[in-house]
Amino acid sequence: MTCQGKVSINDTSGAEAGADMGAEVRAALAGDPPSLPCKYFYDDRGSRLFQEITRLPEYYQTRTEESVLERVADEVVAAVGARELVELGSGSGRKIRLLLDAMARAGHLERCVLFDINERDLEQSVRALGRDYPQARVRGVVGDFTQGFAGVGPGGGRIAALFGGTIGNLHPRDVPAFLARVADLLEEGDGFLVGIDLVKDKRVLEAAYNDAAGVTARFNRNILQVMNDRLGADFDPSAFDHVAFYDEQNAWIEMRLRARRAQGVRIPGAGVDLRLAPGDEIRTEISCKYSRASLEAKLPGTGLRLGQWHADQANRFALALLVRDPEARR
Ligand SMILES: C[S@@+](CC[C@H](N)C(=O)[O-])C[C@H]1O[C@@H](n2cnc3c(N)ncnc32)[C@H](O)[C@@H]1O
Repeated sequence: MTCQGKVSINDTSGAEAGADMGAEVRAALAGDPPSLPCKYFYDDRGSRLFQEITRLPEYYQTRTEESVLERVADEVVAAVGARELVELGSGSGRKIRLLLDAMARAGHLERCVLFDINERDLEQSVRALGRDYPQARVRGVVGDFTQGFAGVGPGGGRIAALFGGTIGNLHPRDVPAFLARVADLLEEGDGFLVGIDLVKDKRVLEAAYNDAAGVTARFNRNILQVMNDRLGADFDPSAFDHVAFYDEQNAWIEMRLRARRAQGVRIPGAGVDLRLAPGDEIRTEISCKYSRASLEAKLPGTGLRLGQWHADQANRFALALLVRDPEARR
């Protein structure tokens, strides 16, 4: 833990995020389809590329979510009355400012916790928020939210947030358990504000993941560079094509990397030797799209109920305020 005044960073990644990357990658590549865990997109280069993606004309998600949040932040804060904000997968920590401003306006901003797998992003965001919100104690926790929330600790009077449609990167079967773990961070009446990318026209969805400038393709290939850097692999990222398509049956965008030619790849840190034929694919991300009904179907038994639902006029993106309700755990 590093600590300076009211700002601190707690690194739980030794216990969680970095626990056994090799074993995780080996298991994912042995799956059907072979895949790589999408959390490995976010090294420093991947995080910078993601920031670029959020500014692309095709990527409506960030702009839309921010405009909805701007409109409803005061209403959300009034409903929860929280003194502490916990943002999961905080990245640049930009959107959270809209909620922090609303909490400050309401006169009860005391604490803020940012939780992310990328330490550098986290450090920068924590320092910037510590500077701009001197009335709050700002903490950063480096960790993997698919494993748990070690380092966040218990506490009531909280609102947790997960923006960017990031919940869509979880497999739908894992969502109820994830929501139940978030509920454990909360006390009765606390809230979890989740940004949801909504089911919509396939062409709009596919354009958002196949931008004309090719930034998403660079982001996608970067995961191979992360395998090279962290597991000593010898992937040639330029030997793979970026593929992104909407799977209507599963209601998810799927990103893949397709081998351009026959190739062998060694991944010593995972104990894997891959033999790829031309056209072989590795899945790198799913991004599930929800409706109000399909999100609500995930809630029974989690300890959370739907409190508020705010979508933009065109129904592209929504913010769902889930409320901790012990009755909802049965
Ligand atoms: C899609 S980006 C969203 C970033 C930001 N919240 C936004 O809305 O623009 C996902 C963020 O979650 C972080 N992340 C991805 N997988 C994670 C994991 N398993 N545990 C913790 N953070 C994770 C990434 O580093 C990145 O900052």
